[in-house]
Amino acid sequence: MPLLELRGITHRFGAVTALDGVDLDVAAGEVHALLGENGAGKSTLVNVLAGGIVPDRGEVWVDGEVVRLRSPADAARRGIGMVHQHDALVGAFTVAENLALGLPGAPFSSSPGFLEAVHRRAAAASPLPLPSATARTDTLGVGERQRVEIARAVADGGRLLGLDEATAVLTPAEADALLDATRALARDGMAVVFITHRLAEVERVADRVTVLRGGRVVHRAARGGFDPATLAAAMVGAAPEPLPAGPGRPGGEALALVGLAARASDASRGVDGIDLSVRSGEIVGVAGVDGNGQRSLAAAVAGTCAPSAGEVRIGGRAAGRTGPAGHRALGLAIVPEDRRTEGLALDLSLAENLLLDAGALGGPAWGTRAPRAIRRAAAPRLERFGVTADPGARAGALSGGNQQRVVLARELGEPPAALLLVNPTRGLDLRATAFVRDEVRRLRDAGAGVLLVSTDLDEVVELADRVVVLSSGRLSGPFPKETPRAELGRAMAGGAP
Ligand SMILES: Nc1ncnc2c1ncn2[C@@H]1O[C@H](COP(=O)(O)OP(=O)(O)O)[C@@H](O)[C@H]1O
Ligand SMILES: [Mg+2]
Repeated sequence: MPLLELRGITHRFGAVTALDGVDLDVAAGEVHALLGENGAGKSTLVNVLAGGIVPDRGEVWVDGEVVRLRSPADAARRGIGMVHQHDALVGAFTVAENLALGLPGAPFSSSPGFLEAVHRRAAAASPLPLPSATARTDTLGVGERQRVEIARAVADGGRLLGLDEATAVLTPAEADALLDATRALARDGMAVVFITHRLAEVERVADRVTVLRGGRVVHRAARGGFDPATLAAAMVGAAPEPLPAGPGRPGGEALALVGLAARASDASRGVDGIDLSVRSGEIVGVAGVDGNGQRSLAAAVAGTCAPSAGEVRIGGRAAGRTGPAGHRALGLAIVPEDRRTEGLALDLSLAENLLLDAGALGGPAWGTRAPRAIRRAAAPRLERFGVTADPGARAGALSGGNQQRVVLARELGEPPAALLLVNPTRGLDLRATAFVRDEVRRLRDAGAGVLLVSTDLDEVVELADRVVVLSSGRLSGPFPKETPRAELGRAMAGGAP
């Protein structure tokens, strides 16, 4: 008998059918992968099994009986816990306080002894090292916060763990540890629903896979029967044809960094002695391991941090200390690293987010136009970038792929002279990734000078016409795009190229 079974689950959000008659069963001791593109319905489905959403139709069976899960607490009582796509910890609370939240008989003024005991139990149940009990969770990194959430889900009688795109936010090493931990949990009898859009992860951790597309199950397979090509085809359906990746035809200088030194904040690594020129019609890729100065480099180019030496030139003109607005006025478009904190105002509508770049919708901006007129103006632009949500929808409610499309719709609607992109496809699924990369090539071919800062070496090699490497705050290269990876890897590690 499966531990958990979903039968004929259907759920709508307004006009969108997020789930359409989905069946899924999960047994103790198995990792069941849920694979699908952005918007396929994966998060909605695990929210149903974790009590966050009561579906319009269908049945949830636990231990062979029909149950109604009306809240996450309801699900937790049956041993079902969940690690969400965006973490659900209370930042101002400590690790132990977060672990204690929601435990029966845990008033918030819990004694230190009680909190210590909760932390000890969670650490013992957890497959990964747990940060210390007294650390405030808002001082922890993404990977550490995730470990607190996992421990909370598996401690105290946890039997089923849902992981929603948990590896997407992790470094490769952290992701690796999480995949190992997932297998270890299953060996100990835990049922795991593992959501991902990465085929390699299915291959590595899953016993079975269910592929969702458009809210329907389109493919199922068990270990031994995983075929990457079939899985990919099931995920994307008829994939859009990518544009041919023709070589760029570089023209005049679009963006130049001259003797640049900058530091984005005390906490980040600075850059020094940066000389780089990006011509119009070419993509220059900055490869490197995260933490080698990417943040400072991007901040200086975007104008959010003033250089301590040297200068940024956009379209042949020195940007000086004009800040982001000044850099934009010279023709720079910016697709920032974190679409949720830097790219979008999550509480505003999509249409209002387009207006954040005055002129993106043509004509006057804030306050002078009626909301309905703004939405009408935004609709065609959003549609052109494939955003499948209403212009009046709150940006924060969208999937990562849709959020990135909104950022692109604002930044790239009018072809810019120069474009800065920072990790533009991190956390996106195959189709959204292909869309972003095609847009970047299209703009390059239309004459934009593109500076791509990415910690994904595959992405840099795929897109860039020339590659430079950022290591310990300094650039090496340029390397032609045919350069062997081993050589780029040596430069990334700081060795002699
Ligand atoms: N709270 C919500 N309000 C409106 N639409 C939503 C909401 N949550 C999800 N959707 C829509 O439901 C569909 C499925 O979304 P989701 O389950 O998040 O997909 P996935 O996790 O596979 O990316 C998408 O079209 C999404 O835009
Ligand atoms: Mg999701």
